[in-house]
Amino acid sequence: MCGIVGYAGHRPAVPLVVEELHRLEYRGYDSAGVACVQQGAFRVVKAEGKLNALEMKLSTEPPATATTGMGHTRWATHGAPCERNAHPHLSNSAKLALVHNGIIENYLEIKNELTAKGYVFHSETDTEVLVNLIEDCHKSEPDLMKAFSMALCKAHGAYAICLMSIEEPDVFYAARMSAPLILGVGTGENFVASDIPAFLPYTRRVVFLENGEMARVDKSSFRVCRIADLSPVEHSIETIEWDVQSAQKGGYRHFMLKEIFEQPDILRDSMTGRVSASRDSVRLHELDDFPVPARLTIVACGTSSHAGMWGRHILESMARVPVQVEIASEYRYKERLLFSKDEMVLVISQSGETADTLAALRRARECGAAVIGLCNVVGSSIAREADRVLYTQAGPEISVASTKAMCSQMLVLTLMALYWGARKGTVSGGEIAAVVQDILSLPEMLHKELPGMHEKAKMLSRKYSQAKNFFYLGRGHCYPLALEGALKLKELSYIHAEGYAAGEMKHGPIALVDSVFPAFAICPDDALLPKVKSNIVEVQARQGKVIALTNPGVDLPAEDVWVVPKVNSLMAGFVILPALQLFSYEMADYLGKDVDQPRNLAKSVTVE
Ligand code: G6P
Repeated sequence: MCGIVGYAGHRPAVPLVVEELHRLEYRGYDSAGVACVQQGAFRVVKAEGKLNALEMKLSTEPPATATTGMGHTRWATHGAPCERNAHPHLSNSAKLALVHNGIIENYLEIKNELTAKGYVFHSETDTEVLVNLIEDCHKSEPDLMKAFSMALCKAHGAYAICLMSIEEPDVFYAARMSAPLILGVGTGENFVASDIPAFLPYTRRVVFLENGEMARVDKSSFRVCRIADLSPVEHSIETIEWDVQSAQKGGYRHFMLKEIFEQPDILRDSMTGRVSASRDSVRLHELDDFPVPARLTIVACGTSSHAGMWGRHILESMARVPVQVEIASEYRYKERLLFSKDEMVLVISQSGETADTLAALRRARECGAAVIGLCNVVGSSIAREADRVLYTQAGPEISVASTKAMCSQMLVLTLMALYWGARKGTVSGGEIAAVVQDILSLPEMLHKELPGMHEKAKMLSRKYSQAKNFFYLGRGHCYPLALEGALKLKELSYIHAEGYAAGEMKHGPIALVDSVFPAFAICPDDALLPKVKSNIVEVQARQGKVIALTNPGVDLPAEDVWVVPKVNSLMAGFVILPALQLFSYEMADYLGKDVDQPRNLAKSVTVE
């Protein structure tokens, strides 16, 4: 998740921009750069790696005196994380410079058109294509605001952008479409940034740009209009009361809570560029030259392994690919790894650095299997060593307990199932369109529902906070979710919890149930509902209290019924998951535990 900053004011812009980028470091990045206009030409300095590498480079240059500038931290999407691909990017004439967060979906098409007109490209980025498209529009349209709008109307996708021109060295332009961008309004200085902490020491007065809006900003004024028709937009200026640290948490008490609430946007963003315009086919170009596996072994640890277990259901039902899921620490030491013809291994890891998962990948490759990596961190070891890599695009996850990463892994697994299913002919365009429609309806619904779910979780956590043990029960695709619910409760609140396949309860665990051993039953309104209902009755018959997570209109004999909206198909998991996360979060917070950094746990376990 890139970070963008722009500044127009009275202070030296370059050091200020770098300072702002430091406050966006939490977003994660692999290269950084700054630009300003100095003596009629752009001065652009970029460096691979962390901001200190950029600062080292800047220290060897004569200090820039410009009081307008912009900067960027890049989280690679198109092209490797290296200096050539780092932002800002210049147009061919070197009169325009651009920093960009997001993906221009039709950049290849535009690149071909521009190449035919004689433009040359020095990077693999969609950003360099966009800055040259703006330049091309500017050739026929002298007003840069209009040329910028013309270019953006041609470019499809998600973006937050800051643009500068040598023609107006004290001005920057900004635009936003499905990626965050906020204006900071100071006295004799104005700012733009991907997130408020960047400029918070300088101003608390902000304007939240909306999707489809652009702005022209100088040190004493700003003008906002719509990209589509340049019609003016009036925004009121809001005042932010948070300090820098809580601003990084977006005003939430903890990173975990922020990350839970980010899930609707992640679902929407992760679909960008991966579904055809007609929505009946899925694009996973990373796998185009790879066969559909005859069998798949998924290997992962912790929450990622639960995503894999959930993915098994959808891969088997949609793509008809038989799947087995293995825990990496076990798999890596199997005496003999047996692979049948066209069998593949999929390793799932948010960090891409988990030692057991990495060792499992190496072992599988040594034994001749092709390995696909599903990672969140670009350029991580697993991403580099796998034969092919798919990125989840969840942005950096800071809370040690994984939440949004699992949601994004589930989404990519769903896309893989649809993509392979289409290639094998096991799913029709109509079936793909139906699942895609279910997913596309989720962000809006979750945005609406999450606050109410949070309140319910708060209420239930108070009621059950005395419990020393908890069962989590589910069947089918809800069984891996039960395991994840139990893991979250253990990790965060240190309450002992076990996830069980609901039907397996009667084979032993039920002996533990009594009036102080509650169960959290996951029972969406689907074909297995009557079966889970029977299991609830079994628990209640032993005086066990039950929280039943279900859908409207379902009558359940539980102590507490938690109703969430019904979603068709396996996509129900995307609503169940945040309910489980919120319950554990609230339980831990109520019990005074360190939510973001639970005891004994690490975010990335790079040792065995
Ligand atoms: C650690 C983290 C978990 C995570 C697991 C796997 O145990 O605390 O939250 O699920 O590692 O991490 P990975 O980065 O490989 O997904």
